[in-house]
Amino acid sequence: AADMRSNHIARRIMPVENFPQPGIRFRDITPALQDPRALRNSIDLFAERYENAGLTQIVAIEARGFIFSAALADRLGIGLTLIRKPGKLPRDVFSTSYMLEYGDDVLELHKDALKARDKVIIMDDMLATGGTMGAAVELVRKTPATIYETAFVCELLYLNGRKALDKIGVNSYAICA
Ligand code: PRP
Repeated sequence: AADMRSNHIARRIMPVENFPQPGIRFRDITPALQDPRALRNSIDLFAERYENAGLTQIVAIEARGFIFSAALADRLGIGLTLIRKPGKLPRDVFSTSYMLEYGDDVLELHKDALKARDKVIIMDDMLATGGTMGAAVELVRKTPATIYETAFVCELLYLNGRKALDKIGVNSYAICA
């Protein structure tokens, strides 16, 4: 049953050639969000995996990671911790820069966001090169929290993002070609 749900989600993630730049194949998750069954299936799959994991927070990566993380945090009855693009968080932050498939960027996390008692997953919609999640892992490692694993709706296997996340667990459902 898990496979049918994953396939259903994967079929609603649409490849778009040459966006946002020539040579890049973008994956558009908006059709998966618009399909109520795909959206529900994605949250169900995560909830089944994490309901007894003892997590205290979902750490969510801006922007598309926020969507699934918020729904899952509510489903699990736990909190939501935001990792944001630069200049958005108002108090003292840890910052990490990272390379994207297209350009580079910075991610930030409030310094006091996580405590030693926190056991978290870090969530995003998509694992591509792993640059974004690598930076997020680096940020969470500046806090005393424990990282249970990283979680994605979708993974682009050929970019080998798991390699960039050496020694960190990776959980994803849909494989995108
Ligand atoms: C996309 C995606 C992931 C990241 C994956 O975000 O949502 O966060 O790229 O790529 P990587 O594994 O190669 O780092 P994007 O930077 O486009 O930002 P957005 O979600 O704010 O639109």
